[in-house]
Amino acid sequence: MHPKQLFFFVTTLLVSIFSSLATSKYLIGVGSYDSTGPAAGVNMMGYANLDQSTAGIHFRLRARAFIVAESLNGPRVVFVNLDAGMASQLVTIKVLERLSKRFGKLYNEDNLAISGTHTHAGPGGYLQYVVYSVTSLGFIPQSFDVIVTAIEMSIVQAHQSLKSGSIFINSGDLVNAGINRSPSAYLFNPPDERARYPRNVDTLMTLLKFVDNTSQESIGAFTWFATHGTSMSNNNTLISGDNKGAAARFFEDWFTSTSTNSTTLNAQDHIDGLIEKASSIKATGGQPCGQTSSQEFKVRKNKDGSRFVGAFCQSNVGDVSPNVLGAFCTDSGKPCDFNSSSCHGNDQLCIGRGPGYPDEVKSTKIIGERQFLKAVELFTSAKEQLTGKIDYRHIYLNFTNIEVTLTGNKTVKTCPAGLGAGFAAGTTDGPGAFGFQQGDKKINEFWKRVRDFLKKPSDYQVACQTPKPVLLSTGEMFFPYAWAPAIVPIQILRIGKLVILSVPGEFTTMSGRRLRESVKQTLISNGNGEFDNDTHVVIAGLTNTYSQYIATPEEYEQQRYEAASTLYGPYTLPAYIQEFNKLAESMAKGHKIVNNGPSPPDLSSVQLTLLPDPSGESPPPGVNFGDMKQDVSTPKTGFFTKGDRPRAVFWSPNPRYDILTEGTYAVVEMLQGENWVPVYDDDDFSLVFKWNVDNGSSNGLASLEWEVPNTAKNGVYRFRHFGSSKKTIVSNVEYFTGASSAFAVS
Ligand SMILES: *[C@@H]1O[C@H](CO)[C@@H](O)[C@H](O)[C@H]1NC(C)=O
Ligand SMILES: *[C@@H]1O[C@H](CO)[C@@H](O)[C@H](O)[C@H]1NC(C)=O
Ligand SMILES: *[C@@H]1O[C@H](CO)[C@@H](O)[C@H](O)[C@H]1NC(C)=O
Ligand SMILES: *[C@@H]1O[C@H](CO)[C@@H](O)[C@H](O)[C@H]1NC(C)=O
Ligand SMILES: *[C@@H]1O[C@H](CO)[C@@H](O)[C@H](O)[C@H]1NC(C)=O
Ligand SMILES: *[C@@H]1O[C@H](CO)[C@@H](O)[C@H](O)[C@H]1NC(C)=O
Ligand SMILES: *[C@@H]1O[C@H](CO)[C@@H](O)[C@H](O)[C@H]1NC(C)=O
Ligand SMILES: *[C@@H]1O[C@H](CO)[C@@H](O)[C@H](O)[C@H]1NC(C)=O
Repeated sequence: MHPKQLFFFVTTLLVSIFSSLATSKYLIGVGSYDSTGPAAGVNMMGYANLDQSTAGIHFRLRARAFIVAESLNGPRVVFVNLDAGMASQLVTIKVLERLSKRFGKLYNEDNLAISGTHTHAGPGGYLQYVVYSVTSLGFIPQSFDVIVTAIEMSIVQAHQSLKSGSIFINSGDLVNAGINRSPSAYLFNPPDERARYPRNVDTLMTLLKFVDNTSQESIGAFTWFATHGTSMSNNNTLISGDNKGAAARFFEDWFTSTSTNSTTLNAQDHIDGLIEKASSIKATGGQPCGQTSSQEFKVRKNKDGSRFVGAFCQSNVGDVSPNVLGAFCTDSGKPCDFNSSSCHGNDQLCIGRGPGYPDEVKSTKIIGERQFLKAVELFTSAKEQLTGKIDYRHIYLNFTNIEVTLTGNKTVKTCPAGLGAGFAAGTTDGPGAFGFQQGDKKINEFWKRVRDFLKKPSDYQVACQTPKPVLLSTGEMFFPYAWAPAIVPIQILRIGKLVILSVPGEFTTMSGRRLRESVKQTLISNGNGEFDNDTHVVIAGLTNTYSQYIATPEEYEQQRYEAASTLYGPYTLPAYIQEFNKLAESMAKGHKIVNNGPSPPDLSSVQLTLLPDPSGESPPPGVNFGDMKQDVSTPKTGFFTKGDRPRAVFWSPNPRYDILTEGTYAVVEMLQGENWVPVYDDDDFSLVFKWNVDNGSSNGLASLEWEVPNTAKNGVYRFRHFGSSKKTIVSNVEYFTGASSAFAVS
């Protein structure tokens, strides 16, 4: 070989080795932060049920984030999975403001995605449009602030933990975690289109696995799968991440327990010894404690302080229910009417059943476990490594009147936002108002008058939205401020052969398929071979802002709940497909977006808050906060066993004086040697913190309930309660703690 040739050969070899290293390694970072909002008296977001207000915590809500960068100065994307009903425009705006103060332009509206898990068991009042804050009596600053801070802090953690690593992708089918809750609407889609799919819901779960290059240990995993966060019903009052939050809790605990032994216990203790020991230890009453006491307990930290982050993200969830046994009439026990999901005309009697029916906590656990187990399978067998470019495109659209060109060159338009009668009927996961049915194409005279009193829809709107009977013309309502969004963002994030479509709402199953396939085709046909049939296209639902549902034009004909909630008229979906394809084409061709579109409004200065904050309180005479009203009552055997539910009740003020972010209201401690060691907290599935007002004295009571899990070790335990109070609205916050008597578990 000629020296020149050799030189050329070696250089080429080096370059190709270097570039294969450079493209198979990214900078990766993950973060996670507590986003649990006010646990008392705040209406929950999702079901729009006025009676459903928070009264405690089943387990905590979190923001979980990952950042992937090509290199230190190369392009990067940040994705946040938020345990909340949905993303909120105002939250996104404020998060971006905080990020720009910290990081300049590094994280911006183009490369940041915030996606809601769609739990219906989180406190509301953090969205800026009227329709989404009616039942919470307006804006709730405490709900809003904790979410903004949690997203910010999860991103800060991810940023600070950025290091060289690899990303693996895997996908597989999970068939028993969702069913179609509007199967009659699905049947409106063309038969030849339906024939291409085995089911009326998407069953694919896609998983990303992040692996630290140096330690070769995984630092996190994110999955996308479509199923509603409605395992907990509209009667539930405990804050909960629902089935996705549960799956995340199980996954993170599983990972941590397989890599470390979190508790080392003396298993020698004999049962009699346990009882004797327990009965010799008395309760400690309420006592003040320092500001940090509630924060001292961080059971989920790994030894080195780093945390594995496991996240379960939402996808094209529009018509997918986790209540997989189907919907039945509560009076007759028979299946509901197929087309209207009502029972002899009454929508309120038709209710879906989860696999744990009638126990909704059990249903949450089962649907959570099914997602968790599928994720473990995908995680442990993930082999396909992501390589290649990081890229992103983002644009704001005014959805009020987008011109859409359909196949055959017919042009149509989207409409101002509007809700149909079927919206008021609700769904089989949570029925709405009496007197409405899904599929209603008419509104009766009475409701027409009520509607016209609020706002009579314009003739243009009525014609544009046909066949939807417009019940609330939210796009034409601006008093006291806008009722619905007009400006919504769409976004594409790319990590090599993974393409994430950030959609600002709930696409139905078929809507999601059409969008994914169309975007994939556009990428392939414009992309110089960078994209092919193996490119993974994933929909991230409820992302960056919220604009309710997106049904196909055919499903729109039937006007069930999802169609009645498709805000911008029958051509909402074709408009999304058209506009996403423009972004996809610009990404595939390497073009930049010239015009970012109209910015959404910041309505923070005009928000109304009609729910007062708690105004200060004192304990009842003769007791301190943290004293027990009711101690643990030990069974006759002298000890509790697996599945028992020991419980203690403490005098406790409203939990909103300090919401104990990254701390806990409830702990189960275990005696190890001479020390009480915390082993479960209010982020555990087995330990529940309930807060209620005592009916006799009108003082607050915290009730701690623990379902002794199968994995609990034999030993001596006690409850510990943490809380805070204010004497008057202007006083300082004071902290207290109390402990129950000891009890034995064997
Ligand atoms: C990955 O880690 C190995 C050591 O495990 C190190 O030699 C290598 O340089 C690292 N690669 C990158 C791209 O950081
Ligand atoms: C809520 O509770 C009421 C009263 O117990 C019951 O009739 C209704 O079916 C429950 N709703 C759901 C969605 O479980
Ligand atoms: C965890 O504890 C078990 C015994 O309980 C022991 O066999 C195992 O080696 C421990 N694993 C680690 C990683 O310490
Ligand atoms: C549902 O409605 C369709 C028309 O949209 C009708 O053909 C069908 O018979 C109805 N099914 C039932 C079970 O009522
Ligand atoms: C959106 O477009 C409509 C129709 O052109 C217009 O009236 C409205 O002002 C626009 N909305 C915003 C927030 O720019
Ligand atoms: C649609 O219009 C484009 C140009 O505007 C034309 O090239 C195309 O043939 C038309 N398609 C149909 C089906 O008419
Ligand atoms: C593309 O991939 C899908 C599955 O991912 C497969 O069913 C299909 O046959 C592939 N198409 C081509 C043209 O390879
Ligand atoms: C007070 O009464 C209501 C309704 O009777 C009940 O649901 C609630 O649990 C009671 N509160 C306490 C603390 O007992």
